[in-house]
Amino acid sequence: MENIKAPRGVRDILPDESWKWASIFDVTRKIAEDFGYREVHLPIFEQTELFSRGIGETTDVVEKEMYTFSDRSGRSLTLRPEATASMVRAYLEHGMASGPQPSKLWCAGPMMRYERPQKGRYRQFWQLDFEAIGSSSPLVDVEVIALSLEIFRRLGLSNLEVLVNSVGCPVCRPVYRSALQAYLGGHFESLCPTCQGRYDRNPLRILDCKVPTCRSITDGAPDVRDHLCEECRVHFDEVLKGLALIGAKFRIDKRLVRGLDYYTKTAYEVLSGDLGAQNAVCGGGRYDNLAEAIGGPHTPGVGFAAGLDRIVLTMEQQGLGFGKEPSIFATVVIADEGARDEGLRLLYELRKAGVPTDMDASGKGMKAQMKAAGAAKAAYVCLLGSSEVVKGVVALKEMSTGTQAEIERDRIVAELVLKAGAARC
Ligand code: HAM
Repeated sequence: MENIKAPRGVRDILPDESWKWASIFDVTRKIAEDFGYREVHLPIFEQTELFSRGIGETTDVVEKEMYTFSDRSGRSLTLRPEATASMVRAYLEHGMASGPQPSKLWCAGPMMRYERPQKGRYRQFWQLDFEAIGSSSPLVDVEVIALSLEIFRRLGLSNLEVLVNSVGCPVCRPVYRSALQAYLGGHFESLCPTCQGRYDRNPLRILDCKVPTCRSITDGAPDVRDHLCEECRVHFDEVLKGLALIGAKFRIDKRLVRGLDYYTKTAYEVLSGDLGAQNAVCGGGRYDNLAEAIGGPHTPGVGFAAGLDRIVLTMEQQGLGFGKEPSIFATVVIADEGARDEGLRLLYELRKAGVPTDMDASGKGMKAQMKAAGAAKAAYVCLLGSSEVVKGVVALKEMSTGTQAEIERDRIVAELVLKAGAARC
C-alpha cells in the first residue's frame, strides 16, 4: 500500500520552522497590545453563505477556490478562505457594537483556498488578521496600515513596497465602472480571454491582470481617483495625509483593486521584492458594506491580513534572524543503573524549577547519552553515577568548554536555575 501523504498544496510546519513562526507570533502579539487589538479565535468553517455573500459571488475566491462541502445534515459549509467575513460575523453575532468602537480584534490561523500551488502559494496558508470594526474614520485606516508596517519593521523586513488606492463606494464605483468599461470596450478584442470574461462581471479586476497586452491597454485606463465622490475623495486624502504624517512610505497605484468584492474606499497591499510571482505579504482595506451584505446593520470596518508563510519566506530570503531557537538547557546523563532513580528525581526537580531539561528513557549507554545531549545542543550535562549518588554530588559538565565540576546535589538545581536565567538574558 502506498504511504498516505499530505494533500497537494498543504504542508506540515515542522519544529525547525515552527519555532520561527512562534517568534513571529510573539512580535505580533506585542504589537497588537501596543495598538490596543485583542485576540480572538474563530471557527475554521462557516456557513457557505457567509463567504458567498460577504466576499462576492463573482470573485475568484468564491467562484473557484472555496472548499465547500455538505455536512451530515445537508448544510453547506465552507473552510474559511479568509478571516474578515468571520470577524464581522462574530462582531454582529456577539453584539460588539454596544461596546467601545471600533472593536479592535485580531486572529491568526490557517485559511484554505483551492489555488494552484507554487512558491509562496499554498492551499492551506496562515494569516495574521487584524480588523477594526465600527468606525468610518480615515485615522483608523491609517492605524491599520501603520500596524501592518510595524510588524514588518520589528521583524526587520526590508525591500517592501506599500501600494495604496481607493476603490470608491456604491455611489461612485458604478460611475467609474462605466467609464472603465467604455474605455476597455474599445480594446475588447485585444484583452486576454480571462479579462474578456471579466469585462461584464468584474471589469475592475482587469486592472490588475499581469498579461502584458492587458497591462499596456490598462496603462491608459481612466484613474479611479478622477471618479471618486466627494466623501470618498475626502476620505482618501485624509488617509494619505495621515500616512505622510507618520512617515509611512507608500505609492498610489491606480491598478490596485484587490480580489475581494467587499472593499470600499481604501485598498492597500504590501509587496516584497524578494518573493517572485506571489509577492504580496499583506493586503487589506476598508469594507463599509460587508456587515450589511451578511445581514447585519450598516457597520464600517477596515483591516488587513498578512501571510505568515510569505513573511517567513521573505525573512529567510533576507537572512534575518528569528530570535533564539529554543533548546534543552540541561541533560541528565546516567553513568550506571544505580543512579537512574536519582537521575529521574533530578530531571523533574529541574523541570519544575523551569530549567528545560531532558534525560534518556530508553536505557542508552553513557556515550550515546552524551552524544544525544550534544545533538540536543544542551548547554550542560548533569552526570550521575552510583558514586556521585553516594557522595551526594552531581558532576556538572559545561558542553561548550568541556569543563567539569562537582556540585553538591542540594545546590545543583539552584545553580542551573541561575545559569539558565543568565543564558536567557
Ligand atoms: P488577501 O489579499 O486575499 O486578503 O490575503 C491576504 C494575504 O494572505 C496575502 O497578501 C498573502 O500574503 C496571503 N495569502 C493569500 N493567499 C495565499 C496563499 N494561497 N498562500 C499563501 N499566502 C496567501 C484577505 O484575505 C483579506 N481578508 C484581508 C483583509 C483583512 N482585508 C480587510 N481585512
